Amino acid sequence: MTTRHDEGPVVLHGRIVRLREFTLADLDGVRGVIGDNRVAHHLSFNTRNAEQARELLHTIVEQARARPRSEFYLAITPRDADRAADNDRVVGFTRLQRTHPYSGRLVYAVAHAHQGRGYAGDAVRTLLDFAFGTLRLHRITAAVGPDNRAGLALVENIGFTREGVLRDHVHANGAWRDSVLFSLLAPEWRRSRED
Ligand SMILES: CC(C)(COP(=O)(O)OP(=O)(O)OC[C@H]1O[C@@H](n2cnc3c(N)ncnc32)[C@H](O)[C@@H]1OP(=O)(O)O)[C@@H](O)C(=O)NCCC(=O)NCCS
Repeated sequence: MTTRHDEGPVVLHGRIVRLREFTLADLDGVRGVIGDNRVAHHLSFNTRNAEQARELLHTIVEQARARPRSEFYLAITPRDADRAADNDRVVGFTRLQRTHPYSGRLVYAVAHAHQGRGYAGDAVRTLLDFAFGTLRLHRITAAVGPDNRAGLALVENIGFTREGVLRDHVHANGAWRDSVLFSLLAPEWRRSRED
């Protein structure tokens, strides 16, 4: 499937965040998210040390060049920072993984110091516009740990439907955990945007 995004880097503007491609200069920002156990604990991989974070960043930058593209790992940068210089700083990421021509998987995370400001909600809504609009996906899923209050609230508030529990879905930091599987369909998203 060829879509307009295949022509170049993705930049998406939300209300208070901008989503942009990662560059190799974003290592500190990436470490602030996946190197912090308070955040990584809720994701599906072990907390990353500096070298592992560097490797992941290389992989993200590499995958963004692949065509056709199936990985949209985008940096969340604030548009509301007090200093203009901070507006390009990475405060989190959203990841949309196209698992099929018409479906995708969503992951999101924001650095601990920047949580509670609405960044993740705005970033995910902005990415969903891109996914259902530009990419023309039909179904997007998100798998969230059953004890992850903020992670659950985010998808529930957006209007995802709870489908069930994936047992022992994730093995990270030495333990298995279940995930609650959520989905959102394109017509549901369009209806919610019209309200
Ligand atoms: C989940 C996470 C991304 C939220 O980031 P954030 O920038 O603080 O989120 P926001 O400020 O945009 O809040 C999102 C929504 O969740 C709600 N929320 C946030 N924290 C909450 C909490 N502790 N309890 C209940 N609701 C909460 C907000 O009210 C908001 O609702 P709204 O969109 O209707 O206003 C962040 O806590 C995080 O990175 N957690 C670790 C990674 C993770 O859990 N990812 C999800 C699995 S993929």
